[in-house]
Amino acid sequence: MSNLRTLGEFIVEKQNDFPAASGELSSLLSSISLAAKIVHREINKAGLVDIAGAAGVENIQGEAQQKLDVLANDTFKSALEARDQVCGIASEEEDEEVSFTNARNQNAKYVVLMDPLDGSSNIDVNVSVGTIFSIYRRISPVGSPTQKEDYLQPGTEQVASGYVIYGSSTMLVYTTGAGVHGFTYDPSIGVFCLSHENMTIPNEGRVYSINEGNYVKFPLGVKKYIKYCQEEDTSTNRPYTSRYIGSLVSDFHRNLLMGGIFLYPSTRTYPSGKLRLLYECNPIAFLMEQAGGTATDGEKRIMEIKPTELHQRVPFFVGSNAMIETLHGFIEQNKHQY
Ligand code: AHG
Ligand code: MN
Ligand code: MN
Repeated sequence: MSNLRTLGEFIVEKQNDFPAASGELSSLLSSISLAAKIVHREINKAGLVDIAGAAGVENIQGEAQQKLDVLANDTFKSALEARDQVCGIASEEEDEEVSFTNARNQNAKYVVLMDPLDGSSNIDVNVSVGTIFSIYRRISPVGSPTQKEDYLQPGTEQVASGYVIYGSSTMLVYTTGAGVHGFTYDPSIGVFCLSHENMTIPNEGRVYSINEGNYVKFPLGVKKYIKYCQEEDTSTNRPYTSRYIGSLVSDFHRNLLMGGIFLYPSTRTYPSGKLRLLYECNPIAFLMEQAGGTATDGEKRIMEIKPTELHQRVPFFVGSNAMIETLHGFIEQNKHQY
């Protein structure tokens, strides 16, 4: 294979493009890749050891934590704490933010927000899951414990974001605001290798992804858009194809490669939608925009929302530009109607 490059080499190479970058971000991303390898190993033997299933407790959002949710959270948390670059984390699996206590970490510049295991309902049935992460520069002074404000920054302030997909192969995909790059894990040598440089999403796609079981609870504009996707019109390649895995990372990854739209609207049960702004929607939105697509809450750009709570939810629409534009038309014409 010509031009074979590892994640570590690629990050250092890119860092040289920006002389101001001090190498801290490289070290931070390498701790994420280390944790991803450990989680990869555990997920791959999930059927063999007593690791699948519920942990017997609920997270702050009232969802049953799976054993692998806890394991992934602990793995990423300790990998991040072990380096000098991260002063604290916020996680789907932690009630509050966690400010690392030792001086080494308190002198660090970055906070990491994460969904350690995305799509956990898929673990027990051997379907792809993921990890999502988002990195910000702290606002509070270096050398002190982190503050809430460090975590409640709009997505436009992200320094980097990415995800790991534990699929038929494991991949790490990230952006630092200079394109989206994907690396495939080769477990035989324990290395992520560059496989998808400068990923871009087609402007128009043929795939729509939504949990259609909730159809009757959707806003009218979304219902009408779904019917539009299903109508026959050869000039616009309709009907589209429906694909829904139930793990955002996997649904997003497919749409990124093939073009498509992912929708998680508000429903009558979840008036603000289900997905979490800080560690699901913002990092995915940053990747999507960097790949040339769009991410909104149905009206506004996701990354411009000013967060008020760590576990805040938001309606989420992400995908190919032309598809999001059509969706917005339906939402605009049927505002606030169910
Ligand atoms: P998590 O497993 O981190 O709680 O996230 C699950 C999310 C997301 O991955 C997925 O898109 C969505 O929940 C699926 O929700 P439904 O089962 O309501 O479709
Ligand atoms: Mn999730
Ligand atoms: Mn999760």
